[in-house]
Amino acid sequence: MTQTAEKTDLAQIGVVGLAVMGSNLARNFARNGNTVAVYNRSPEKTRALISEHGDEGAFIPSETVEDFVASLERPRKAIIMVQAGAATDAVINQLTEAMDEGDIIIDGGNALFTDTIRREKEVAAKGRHFVGAGISGGEEGALNGPSIMPGGPAESWETLGPILESIAAEVDGTPCVTHIGPDGAGHFVKMVHNGIEYADMQVIGEAYQLLRYGAGMEPAEIAEVFREWNAGDLDSYLIEITAEVLAQTDPDTGAPLVDVIVDAAGQKGTGRWTAINGLDLGVPITGIAESVFARALSSATAQRAAAQEGQLPSGTITELNVDKAEFVEDVRRALYAAKLIAYSQGFDEIKAGSDEFGWNVDPRDLATIWRGGCIIRAKFLDRIREAYDNDADLPALILDPYFKGELENLIDPWRRVVVAATQLGLPVPVFASSLSYYDSLRAERLPAALIQGQRDFFGAHTFKRVDREGTFHIEWSGDRSLTEM
Ligand code: ATR
Repeated sequence: MTQTAEKTDLAQIGVVGLAVMGSNLARNFARNGNTVAVYNRSPEKTRALISEHGDEGAFIPSETVEDFVASLERPRKAIIMVQAGAATDAVINQLTEAMDEGDIIIDGGNALFTDTIRREKEVAAKGRHFVGAGISGGEEGALNGPSIMPGGPAESWETLGPILESIAAEVDGTPCVTHIGPDGAGHFVKMVHNGIEYADMQVIGEAYQLLRYGAGMEPAEIAEVFREWNAGDLDSYLIEITAEVLAQTDPDTGAPLVDVIVDAAGQKGTGRWTAINGLDLGVPITGIAESVFARALSSATAQRAAAQEGQLPSGTITELNVDKAEFVEDVRRALYAAKLIAYSQGFDEIKAGSDEFGWNVDPRDLATIWRGGCIIRAKFLDRIREAYDNDADLPALILDPYFKGELENLIDPWRRVVVAATQLGLPVPVFASSLSYYDSLRAERLPAALIQGQRDFFGAHTFKRVDREGTFHIEWSGDRSLTEM
């Protein structure tokens, strides 16, 4: 062990895996007064970190896992920042072997929460603690202050809390980190955070699409619109960076950058997991699921090319026939409404997951720790916090009195925008499906009654009646009499 450490002989925290996220996190710990042990499978990355940033704080670099573990203060605390999947399992096994009873292994990657539940059991069986921690904020957040969502045993949080608080983002003096709940709770919540992020990005994309191809505005002009929006209810990191991206020109051609970027959106899969889990739990996270589908559709390059060759009839497309400024304001309100639905649905999924797995997640904690550091940070989260402060058992976020009041002002513009998009032939999957979700929630009667009738017809699946208790069936192929089952 050659050291740059000065503060103590042993490190308060260790980081395994020194790609960009791991290095930035290690630097953040060091810059905040912690002695940090660092280790990477290939020693070149460790050496590069020390030579480029060793002067930012106290580091103890190691070239073997054993040296790394020996350089940690007890109970040892090591954060794994390696590729999700098999690499994470391999490193957990190495650390478990080298560590002792009571030491804490933290997985800071984007693990699937069911893997985290499994790993926690395996590690706990060997007397070590395992904490799956969601870390949001990308590279910049890891370096300057992320939002951190740790799960695992409450006991580990006692030890880990202060050190994580030392590197997390802060809003109004409150660090953006708290213990979310046992085993996989942290990674689950981070997964839904990412799902909400997909929806938030998609609704911004739909607003852009309408202003660009519906109202015929240029990217630079739309950038100004987003800048204005960022000064109001929509004030958020994603709106802010949208303005930046739209204002950017291509250094090669001078064209708006957005026009030279291939319109096929990628993903690493956390949005897809959120949608799959929503289906598993039976929670209608329509905004998130439509956003995942929208990315998939954008990347269906061959199908899109075939459809673009004039293959599919467009029907009658009408020009926008309203005042541009009014349309821009309507689009802002539609974006706000669809965003509200996506968050409301995301919080529903968190509640359902928390109930299913017995995590006792407090939605107020999320609204607090997502205010800074993470990609979905927004002023709006203060309102969400207030909503759950006023009623911790809100049946849905949109039923909070403040948000209901907002919806009064949003609903008509939202309907107008969905109609206009339809007539313009422009796709608005999340604006439109969120409106259907909203109207479904409000509807006194849903066609589910008819579906139950159909199910009883072809599969004798039975139905319930509105006028009395019991389970019923019609003898469809016989005399069509009613039988109580
Ligand atoms: P990024 O996307 O930021 O590059 P990543 O692919 O998620 O990061 O993770 C890369 C990190 O995982 C690297 O530190 C890598 O170590 P190497 O530099 O030695 O390649 C680490 N990693 C990947 N597989 C690993 C394994 N089986 N054991 C240990 N570390 C591993």
